[in-house]
Amino acid sequence: MRKFCRFVGIEMKETALYYCEKIKDIPVFIPKGRRVVVLADKRLESVFIEIFPYPVITVDSTEDNKCFETIENLTIKLMDAGADRGTLLLIAGGGIVGDMGGFLASVYYRGIDFGIIPTTLLSQVDSSIGGKTAINVRGFKNILGLFNPANFTIFCSEFLDTLPRKQIDEGLAEMLKTFLLADKTTYLDAVDIIIGGNPHLKKLSSFSELFPFIKRATEIKSEIVKRDPFEKGERKLLNLGHTFGHALEKLCGISHGEGVSIGIALCTQLSVKLRLLPKSEGNKIIRDLDALGLPFTSPVPPKELVEIMTKDKKKDGEAIQFILLEGIGKAVIYPLTIERLKGLLNDLS
Ligand SMILES: NC(=O)c1ccc[n+]([C@@H]2O[C@H](COP(=O)([O-])OP(=O)(O)OC[C@H]3O[C@@H](n4cnc5c(N)ncnc54)[C@H](O)[C@@H]3O)[C@@H](O)[C@H]2O)c1
Repeated sequence: MRKFCRFVGIEMKETALYYCEKIKDIPVFIPKGRRVVVLADKRLESVFIEIFPYPVITVDSTEDNKCFETIENLTIKLMDAGADRGTLLLIAGGGIVGDMGGFLASVYYRGIDFGIIPTTLLSQVDSSIGGKTAINVRGFKNILGLFNPANFTIFCSEFLDTLPRKQIDEGLAEMLKTFLLADKTTYLDAVDIIIGGNPHLKKLSSFSELFPFIKRATEIKSEIVKRDPFEKGERKLLNLGHTFGHALEKLCGISHGEGVSIGIALCTQLSVKLRLLPKSEGNKIIRDLDALGLPFTSPVPPKELVEIMTKDKKKDGEAIQFILLEGIGKAVIYPLTIERLKGLLNDLS
């Protein structure tokens, strides 16, 4: 089903999702007879030169580089590569290349077709779905951007085999978040299989064994995004853990994945305290994060996060919109006034 976007007469396209195990199988999914240019993470340049007959332009994936100057440089490279209005841009890399590439494709000749090949766990379970494109401005994250879904996304498990453990952890919290808010059975299965009685993922011989769960996370996110493309309602649930997470990132300089993991733990505790979530389920979630080797305690007393959270975009009048849990697999939007929040956070850790 096609959804109309807020601009009269413009249709919001739906992204086709393709899955494969081997990098060499990716070219099968590329539409035939199109002029194609590849924009790849520099680290993966040789991989894409090997499988594609198309010009490959590269970019370093750093937050500093996710800026307007890079967009200008890449525009010149696209012009040099002969890209025109009919060109398809294939964007291959993690969330940084994905956000930047999506932005570039959305404004190059007022918008060209693009497909994404996400190569990190975070980009596979989260950033490559949902059409959010963005660049940073003077160090402020994701200030410029637009909603514009890719024509297709190709998920390939082999990319996970070269990812450092740190990068797996960055995506793991986002993946579990998706199951926590929408799918109890998959959450329980994922935790059982990933932990396997053996902490820190030692049971998995290769991270590509996560792939069935990645596939499920992509299905859940794309269904939510289809129903609420502009984050007016249900899509907000995907922000579970993020209000605390962003505040922790800013105040303590921890990574996004660490912030989300601790944020999930704090929302779990808040949900128990408000008697939305049974205590036994709350305890399980915290134990699971621990067993997975993910952080679950805040480096600062949680009440110190309130000031930063009041500046967060999820604030609505005098209240902050939290995403809390009514059970494993069921999340709700729950506004809390600043005063009430301060009281509730007093004895959380
Ligand atoms: N658009 C969205 O909805 C959305 C959602 C969440 C996050 N984001 C954005 O995503 C970005 C973070 O994305 P990320 O965590 O994927 O980081 P990233 O793109 O920087 O990738 C992390 C590191 O992994 C390397 N790498 C990529 N693929 C690899 C592979 N297969 N093997 C080995 N190394 C590989 C990269 O070179 C980089 O050094 C942030 O800028 C964030 O704002 C966007």
